[in-house]
Amino acid sequence: MKIVFIILFVVMSTFAQYDEPHRPQLHFSPPANWMNDPNGMVYHNGEYHLFYQYYPNDIVWGPMHWGHAVSRDLIHWKHLPIALEPDKLGYIFSGSAVVDKQNSSGFGTKNKPPLVAMFTYHLMEGEKAGRKNFQYQGIAYSTDNGRTWTKYDKNPVIPNTENLKDFRDTKVFWHEESKRWIVVLAAGDHIRLYSSSNLKTWKVESEFGKMHGSHAGVWECPDLFPLKINGKTKWVLLLSINPGGPSGGSATQYFIGDFDGKTFKNDNPSKKTLWLDYGRDNYAGVTWSNVPGGRRAFLGWMSNWDYAQKVPTSPWRSAMTLPRELSLKQTSDGIRVNQKLVKEIEILRVSEMLAAKDMIVTGSLEISKAKPSQIEMIFEVDLSKTDSKDFGIEVSNKKGETFTVGYNVGSRSFYTDRRKAGKTTFSEEFAKDMHTAPRVSRNSKLRLHLIFDNSSVELFADDGEIAMTDIFFPTEDFTGSRFFSTGGKTRISNAKAWNLRSIWH
Ligand code: FRU
Repeated sequence: MKIVFIILFVVMSTFAQYDEPHRPQLHFSPPANWMNDPNGMVYHNGEYHLFYQYYPNDIVWGPMHWGHAVSRDLIHWKHLPIALEPDKLGYIFSGSAVVDKQNSSGFGTKNKPPLVAMFTYHLMEGEKAGRKNFQYQGIAYSTDNGRTWTKYDKNPVIPNTENLKDFRDTKVFWHEESKRWIVVLAAGDHIRLYSSSNLKTWKVESEFGKMHGSHAGVWECPDLFPLKINGKTKWVLLLSINPGGPSGGSATQYFIGDFDGKTFKNDNPSKKTLWLDYGRDNYAGVTWSNVPGGRRAFLGWMSNWDYAQKVPTSPWRSAMTLPRELSLKQTSDGIRVNQKLVKEIEILRVSEMLAAKDMIVTGSLEISKAKPSQIEMIFEVDLSKTDSKDFGIEVSNKKGETFTVGYNVGSRSFYTDRRKAGKTTFSEEFAKDMHTAPRVSRNSKLRLHLIFDNSSVELFADDGEIAMTDIFFPTEDFTGSRFFSTGGKTRISNAKAWNLRSIWH
């Protein structure tokens, strides 16, 4: 059976043309079949590893494996054979990977440190039989740069002794100050932190979250990492919830605080929920470990459990967001997580299609008649010289289908609108409403940074203070793009746009 999978996979990845309708040209997607969360993201020996929740036999969710790809630049990906397959302990759910530099686990040597992956086992037979302890944590290791993996023969390393129905998604990291490994995982209505000296034996340290943030859905896929602001270290805790997102369904909230090696303390316990992304399609995102220069590179699953299994793509389902660099920024509302595309994305720019300064737009300004898939755009708007009610970018095709990203001046909110963007009826949940995000900045200069791919847009507004990620499926490719200004004039101080080359061709 295993051999058949491997042959099938090699054939599919060799012959995948990546030119099917809606196929992302800038984003990672598997050659064929079902994908969800990014997993095991680690940098090692010049390669960024991306593992992912994968079902190789169908384009809907099924027994989870870890699919695998590597990149040298975070942009171009090489598909590798499946890394982890289900076994008698269960399906392989989400998790993470680290370079065990001191060989604390003993799986490698000091000269050849092993990669160690920590993941959740999900025993489907156990769940079906009505047991509550069907999720527990396991590890596996690789001593050949992640090409082959061996599961630890004493798994599980963290059993489920309390019968917690939701007990999953391990994110492990080295805590330099206390010189030990820490793992954070979602345990029902809170997260739990454990410590270890060797990645094999774990001790509970603390829990966090029962009375914090949004509990509108199940807690999944935590990540905990430090970021500097004004010379000080703060800790960011990412936490995905499903449902309950700001635009409906799956979304990622975050907390900012301190971590002393044992306990996470939230800086804003009583404040409103902080959202990483206000679009519908950025879920279960976590960050790479061991990235050179201490960069925090992030990537999410670009879909939503509300409709992910029904989106009109074949022979694959789902893509990842583009990799983003996370940082902290002081805003008028407090410290917030900022997101920017990783700078490597600039290597995809082929030609500049727009470069203009100090323009006034009333009505409409054509940006391009060319296919607006694979386009990056930056617009800086001077609000002090703008009296329009609404402005933004619309992409469209000859069938009159449109996708819009805009800013509503009166309500001070960014929005995306895919209600008329083509195929929407595959799920009632898909295009019910516009998606909106409140503007934080009070600066009169408003900045929109957008990346369009065949079937998605990512918006980074005000230098990454606000992000919105949305997918869409026009019945024929979008063929034009324009800047619109409704109810008055919009003063654009700076405009730039580039065609981007495909990462696959
Ligand atoms: C998040 C999630 C995780 C789980 C995985 C299963 O999307 O539900 O909690 O580990 O997907 O595929």
